[in-house]
Amino acid sequence: MEHVETIWITGATSGIGQALVERFVADGKRVAVTARSREKLEKLANGRNAVIPVQADVTDEEDVKRAYAEVRDALGVPDLVIANAGTHINMAASELDAKNCRKLMEVNLFGAITTLLAPLPDMLARGSGHLAGVGSLSSYRGLPLAAAYGATKAGLNNFLQSLRFDVETYGLSVTAINPGFVKTPLTDRNPYPMPMVISAERAAGYIADGLARRKMEIHFPPLFSWSCKLLRILPYPVYHALVRRITGSRNRRG
Ligand SMILES: NC(=O)c1ccc[n+]([C@@H]2O[C@H](COP(=O)([O-])OP(=O)(O)OC[C@H]3O[C@@H](n4cnc5c(N)ncnc54)[C@H](OP(=O)(O)O)[C@@H]3O)[C@@H](O)[C@H]2O)c1
Repeated sequence: MEHVETIWITGATSGIGQALVERFVADGKRVAVTARSREKLEKLANGRNAVIPVQADVTDEEDVKRAYAEVRDALGVPDLVIANAGTHINMAASELDAKNCRKLMEVNLFGAITTLLAPLPDMLARGSGHLAGVGSLSSYRGLPLAAAYGATKAGLNNFLQSLRFDVETYGLSVTAINPGFVKTPLTDRNPYPMPMVISAERAAGYIADGLARRKMEIHFPPLFSWSCKLLRILPYPVYHALVRRITGSRNRRG
């Protein structure tokens, strides 16, 4: 019998996650979908056999472990796990607040790590599996208004890069997914223009194709992401002056 690929994805009920679920289902895969809102999960599944709703809050370790056990009961140990749940709070200097910074860390960094570690022992024992985390191009270097968000995504990228060394000898793959601007409810509240913004469906296309090739890093849209990679290797003072000019941050006071 042909093997049907099984996937567990968090942050599945909106934006990039939701578009990915639809792409996976169209490709004939079975997907366990996680988010906090049970109602949105049921709406997404819509009675489809290929979509299994598993409610959880990724900031709660016990909840994530319970959710993973449900996923394993439904699908077996999944072939692919995508830690996609994330959030963003734009914080100008006067709005920087330790509680909000911690909240972003809890969801974007610890939530992703907790999700990826839940299936790890089973994948190590089986000798196969693919772990992916959704970072951001903002992880590459500091950016205005992104002190907390960028730090969560930089942390996640470093975690994934290091994890790859440790698990590849067991036959596991690890992928860091770093999107540019994608139009979703999360970015609809951004107070600034978003260069080279793409749809969630296009983002899902880049991600699904890159995951199928088990790429180490999936970054897009290409013109924007390669420009960010070039900016990354500039000497720090040149980078700082250039980004200040491009974003107009020199004139901004929050
Ligand atoms: N959009 C972009 O331009 C962009 C760019 C780079 C990176 N990213 C990253 O891509 C990922 C998806 O972003 P998006 O734009 O698609 O966001 P979105 O439309 O706001 O969707 C976020 C999803 O995460 C879920 N979620 C949030 N907090 C959660 C929690 N504590 N536990 C479980 N689920 C939770 C939400 O459902 P519930 O509220 O029901 O829990 C929802 O399904 C995020 O990691 C984001 O940082 C986005």
